[in-house]
Amino acid sequence: MSAHAEATSPHVMNTYGRLPIALSHGQGCRVWDTNGKAYLDGLGGIAVNTLGHNHPELVPALQDQLTKLIHSSNYYHVPGQEALAKKLTELSGLTNAFFCCTGLEANEAALKLARKFGHDKGIERPEIVVYERAFHGRSIATLSATGNPKIQAGFGPLVEGFIRVPLNDIEALQRATEGNPNVVAVFFETIQGEGGINPMRNEYLKQVRALCDQKDWLMMIDEVQCGMGRTGKWFAHQWAGIKPDVMPLAKGLGSGVPIGAVVAGPKAANIFGPGNHGTTFGGNPLAMRAGVETIRIMEEQNLLAHVEKVGAHLKAALEREFKGLAGVKEVRGAGLMLGIELDRPCGVILNRACDAGLLLSVTADSVIRLVPPLILSIAEADEIVAILAPIVKAFLVEPAP
Ligand SMILES: Cc1ncc(COP(=O)(O)O)c(C=O)c1O
Repeated sequence: MSAHAEATSPHVMNTYGRLPIALSHGQGCRVWDTNGKAYLDGLGGIAVNTLGHNHPELVPALQDQLTKLIHSSNYYHVPGQEALAKKLTELSGLTNAFFCCTGLEANEAALKLARKFGHDKGIERPEIVVYERAFHGRSIATLSATGNPKIQAGFGPLVEGFIRVPLNDIEALQRATEGNPNVVAVFFETIQGEGGINPMRNEYLKQVRALCDQKDWLMMIDEVQCGMGRTGKWFAHQWAGIKPDVMPLAKGLGSGVPIGAVVAGPKAANIFGPGNHGTTFGGNPLAMRAGVETIRIMEEQNLLAHVEKVGAHLKAALEREFKGLAGVKEVRGAGLMLGIELDRPCGVILNRACDAGLLLSVTADSVIRLVPPLILSIAEADEIVAILAPIVKAFLVEPAP
């Protein structure tokens, strides 16, 4: 790929391995780079652009809000916070929400809730169960909860108070916590995103819910990536018919406007009091409007049913192309959160797909991840497969480098 002048960033800190393109604008599920080349967006800004780009109803609503008030302060009531909290609690069956700006911030709030839940019960050194291959963010606490040594390397000492267990193994969870009076919470993603599209099984979710009830632990589900309709339900854990006590959200909630939330049920909703937690930008009127309008448009357009239909179509098409192909281990995920796991590192597929006009990501070294806008059409799903299949097939027959 040629490097474009517009895409170089000599003054920006070097924290990302970026592709040498810069995007200038988008429409629906298409984006264009600064040289005019078009791409089909299979990444949605990493599960963020719920309604795609330049949505005809979202953009005027945000423009209207810009002319009214972008930011006030949490010194005052913010009516949009009440509107969005009401909506999120209706959709989740939980009771209260706190607003922040990112996923890691929502998770920090959850971790603080769990610790204070313990302290309020007289537990001085609370411990939280977390999972192998989890990803919860890059602050010191959330990277400590993350189950990826590469993300933690160089940032020790890590925050203590985490117990790590494997996914989908209730006996391992029981063994790891047996006789430990300091455990206060279990914290996980319903479908791990960065860890490689690894779903928790419904049966396991029910078992963890029962264990949390029995032991008086908080069940805290990080729905930052898998929530907000991505799997065809508002929140991915709803497929198992359970309810968490604490649910961090971010990414798709604002369709691209930075936003985070932690939604809590009765067991956790009153742990924080005034002065326990806060953030300057959290819950500002612009972000709240983005959240309220995103949900309104999703409901109006019946997007959950759409995600279920298009997601099933895309998964079936990927399975037809890849299942049984030497080098493909599995096609997995739900709705529009899909992964194709290969038996070898495949980061180069990111570049090749980009060259071919398709944006996606490769996570956990060998998993091709698709998290497109939720408005993806069947025709666009077919186009993703048509671009991706020959790239993967050609890659798999190449001799090892
Ligand atoms: C499940 C999950 N939790 C937390 C985060 C962190 O969110 P943010 O990057 O907004 O801090 C991510 C980001 O990828 C995520 O996928």
